[in-house]
Formats: sequence, C-alpha cells, structure tokens
Amino acid sequence: MDTLVDIKKLKKHFPILGGVFRRPVGMVKALDGVSLAIRRGQWLGLVGESGCGKTTLAKTVIRLWKPTSGHIYFDVPDETKALIEELESQGKNGSKLNYLLNENDLATFSGNRLRSLRRRAQLVHQDPFTSLDPRMKIKSTVGEPLRIHHVLSGEAARSAVKELLERVGLSAGQLERYPHQFSGGQRQRIAIARALATKPEFIAFDEPTSALDVSVQAQILNLLKDLKKEFGLTYLYITHELLIAESVCDYIAVMYLGKVVEMGRPEEIFHSPRHPYSQSLIAATPVPDPSRRVGRIVLPGEVPSPANPPPGCAFHPRCSRASDECRELAPELRPVSSDHYVACFHPL
Ligand SMILES: Nc1ncnc2c1ncn2[C@@H]1O[C@H](COP(=O)(O)OP(=O)(O)O)[C@@H](O)[C@H]1O
Ligand SMILES: [Mg+2]
Repeated sequence: MDTLVDIKKLKKHFPILGGVFRRPVGMVKALDGVSLAIRRGQWLGLVGESGCGKTTLAKTVIRLWKPTSGHIYFDVPDETKALIEELESQGKNGSKLNYLLNENDLATFSGNRLRSLRRRAQLVHQDPFTSLDPRMKIKSTVGEPLRIHHVLSGEAARSAVKELLERVGLSAGQLERYPHQFSGGQRQRIAIARALATKPEFIAFDEPTSALDVSVQAQILNLLKDLKKEFGLTYLYITHELLIAESVCDYIAVMYLGKVVEMGRPEEIFHSPRHPYSQSLIAATPVPDPSRRVGRIVLPGEVPSPANPPPGCAFHPRCSRASDECRELAPELRPVSSDHYVACFHPL
C-alpha cells in the first residue's frame, strides 16, 4: 500500500494574547512535532484525551489552518520526499529545495493550489448541529462545493446532489428542506454528502458520531464503511471512543499533548499497548468482555497545559516508569515490532 498523506514533524502553535494590547505572551503547542503516514485506502483512527491536538491535526492536515512548521505531503512520490529530506539535511536552502517544497508541500500552498487540494481532501465536523448553515436549503448545502469548484452546474449539479443525498440514505424529496428539519443523524448524513460532492480521495472525520445516539452511530459507521469501499476512500478518523476505533479502524495513532506517542494495528494497540499512556487510556475504557481488562490504571495528575508542556517526555509527570532520561529528553517514535511504534524510553 502506498502512502497518501504523509505528515512530517508538523507543528501548530497558537499565540496566547495577553494584556491590554493583546500581545503574544506565550504559545499553545497544539501540535508539537507530529509525524504520521496514512496509507491509501487506510482507515486511520486518531485517539487521545480532549485537548491533545486531534482537531488541530485534522484542520492543519487539510490546510484549513496553516502549520507553524513541518511538511504535509498529499500523494507525493517517495523519491520526491526523500530528495527534499536529503537537500534539507545538507542545509542547502537553495532554489531547488524551494521549488520542490512549493510544488509538493501543502504547508506552503495558497491560492489555486489550495483550492485544488480542497477538492481532494475534505473534513466532516464533530457537531452536525452547528456545521450546517441553518439558512441554506439542503440542496444548496450539498451543491455548494460543486459550484465553488466549478465541477458541475445547472441540471447536472441538481441531479448530482440528488444522487449524493440518496447515496447517504436520504431522499430527493428532502432537497428543499432546512437543517433544523432533520435529526442529528440525518444532518451528519448531509455533511457526509457535502464532503463527497467533489469526489475526494481523503476525508478527515472529527468525532463524527460522538453527538449521536448509539443506534444512529452504528448506522453512520456502516455508511462510512460502504462509502469507503465504493469510492476507494482514505480516512482519518478522530474519536475518543476507543471501542469504535477498535472495531472500524485498520491502524491507530495515540496522541498525548501534541505528539503521537504510539501507533500500530488495532490488535496491538488495544491488546498489547506499549506506551504507559496508551495502556492507561485503554485500561480506563469500559469493555464488554471482562477477560479483556488490562487492570485499571488511574493516572495521577491532570493533562498538563500545552501552553506549558513538561520538559523531556511530556508524559513523565504522570508516569510510574519515568527515569532521569525521561525528564530531560523527548523520546522519538521507534519501532517495537513490525508496524508498531512507540515514543517511550521504557516501553512496557
Ligand atoms: N484556535 C485556537 N486558538 C488557540 N488555541 C487553540 C485553538 N484551537 C485549539 N487550541 C488549543 O490547542 C490545544 C489542542 O486543541 P484541540 O486540537 O482542539 O484538541 P482535541 O481535538 O484533541 O480535543 C488545546 O489546548 C486548545 O485549547
Ligand atoms: Mg477536538
């Protein structure tokens, strides 16, 4: 499987404004060096406690937000990325490197390039109650991307919208309605239809079912499974519901304070997590099968603020295995077995 989305050392820092003059007095390090590859056709689950940077990652990857630093590659050949890395490691800031980055790194994109990316990569938001414009009829909401990107117009656009709506389980008879006339699950279907309009290859979902009832959740997940298969889509799926991640995703990344601390296949992450943080996260999740309980681990302390992350490994103040090394150095992701990576000096 080749890599569709390749994120390298991505950082997104937000200034904290203070004082009467609203000057920057600090930085929230929402993303603090995330490297992650999403393979074509993969359903990648991104998990972690609230505030660890999941939404920021999704919005930055599809370039709704501009990163502070790092690279984002979308469908770029490995040779090109290797060449960029080589030129960077030589410290040459020459025109060749600049040319390659301008052509290939989404972090540098603006204008037309960004617009053409928008057709290929979409985001479905967490809250279907606020993500749809209440004043717009459904036909306009779903058809808007077609108009913006000049994909289709007139009768062709109308029939495409009708088809999309039917594909996500709604009916053409609902085209003239407004968002408030739909339930949460139906609104999320509308948001999905809108995301599909430009025939993207990649969709990021930001906790798409967390506002929905369990039975509706299952229906939406089934729809996403079918759509992925039918259109050959690649998903980045953010959720704090670990059981959902385990059941639908084929790869999992665990985030803590702006960093990916562990990634691997769901069977490894959920059955033999190696990072102390993933272990405690998974142990704290209620599981229907009692034989699966790893034993409850209560994490001491709270998630530190990303405005003032601890030095060294950001998890060390809450970690029972922390050594002097952990207090001083930040561990990088290292392989512990094939396709399983952990950022920890003392993996379990
Ligand atoms: N637009 C913003 N301005 C300033 N800080 C932000 C902004 N968006 C997110 N943050 C901060 O970045 C951190 C990560 O947030 P977020 O990505 O929303 O986390 P998650 O989705 O995992 O809950 C939080 O500390 C949050 O307060
Ligand atoms: Mg979020």
